[in-house]
Amino acid sequence: MKILVTGASGLLGSKIVRLATKKDHEIFSGYFNNIPDHGQPIKFDLQDKETIYHAITKIKPNVVIHCAALTDVDTCETNKTLTKKINIDGVKTIAEITSKLNSFLVFISTDYVFDGKQGNYRELDKTNPINYYGYSKLLGERIIAETNTDYLISRVSVIYGNKPASGKINFALWLINNLKNNRDVKILTDQFISPTFNTNLAEMLLEASEKRLKGIYHMAGASKVSRYEFAEKLADTFNLNKTLIKKVKLDDMNWKARRPKDTSLDISKAQKDLKMKPIKLDDALESLKEEIDIAQRNFD
Ligand SMILES: NC(=O)c1ccc[n+]([C@@H]2O[C@H](COP(=O)([O-])OP(=O)(O)OC[C@H]3O[C@@H](n4cnc5c(N)ncnc54)[C@H](OP(=O)(O)O)[C@@H]3O)[C@@H](O)[C@H]2O)c1
Repeated sequence: MKILVTGASGLLGSKIVRLATKKDHEIFSGYFNNIPDHGQPIKFDLQDKETIYHAITKIKPNVVIHCAALTDVDTCETNKTLTKKINIDGVKTIAEITSKLNSFLVFISTDYVFDGKQGNYRELDKTNPINYYGYSKLLGERIIAETNTDYLISRVSVIYGNKPASGKINFALWLINNLKNNRDVKILTDQFISPTFNTNLAEMLLEASEKRLKGIYHMAGASKVSRYEFAEKLADTFNLNKTLIKKVKLDDMNWKARRPKDTSLDISKAQKDLKMKPIKLDDALESLKEEIDIAQRNFD
């Protein structure tokens, strides 16, 4: 199968291409600034319809896994024009092309399509984003659903993994680095999430792509925790000093974009339909530790 992964230099995309190249697939790795280290690199700009069109029609992929996005929630709030171009218009172009080519489109969406008042969200629960990032991703979902293309929308929550990607560090690595260096960290006790290990998510997405699983799926980790509990579990797993983790509340934060309080996701539909199940946080953190240890050993 020919698979194009957009955002292949990112936290999720880089893991998908790494795992997919070990399988019997031909992998194309879409990027913008940072050349991906697996798959056949293919550069395009989601702001530029021509470059997207050229890249995808040349490949004629069976599946497009669309991970690329403007993902910084505060940047999305302050630069809505750029966010619209990348997260809304870019998705529209991709959906139009997959429709023409009869390719299967897998779109990575977010728990931030919800307002966070309820938690444990199921796929058909009412969406109501409270920031522009969530709004832009929800519009991407709607555009795909309205285009005549076979699609899967996978909503995920706070992704983490063993390596920095696309020039950024993820929450888990940020926390581990700070605690290792004996620095205090302020962590929210009143924001609830379903932390998602990129390896587990990438495996679910590849299985779903192979099966052409259609519709909306919540594909997150199987445990709901507060950011604070997540941080404590990370500290426990990596044997780090938990007293450096200081409690703060959402109201103490001075962010440009509002954050929803509880966007934990109910993953029972994915659990039912996939062989590769969403895993519990404790198991995911053990796997994360193994991946970091292996990477360290290979580097030493
Ligand atoms: N990370 C999370 O916690 C989280 C939570 C919920 C949902 N999601 C969704 O999951 C998906 C993957 O997130 P991620 O954290 O893996 O992303 P990421 O690490 O921030 O990477 C973003 C990717 O998008 C590419 N990109 C950005 N602007 C582009 C442009 N104009 N043209 C082409 N490519 C462009 C980047 O390419 P370069 O590196 O080459 O610039 C990079 O590969 C996103 O759709 C995001 O909305 C993420």
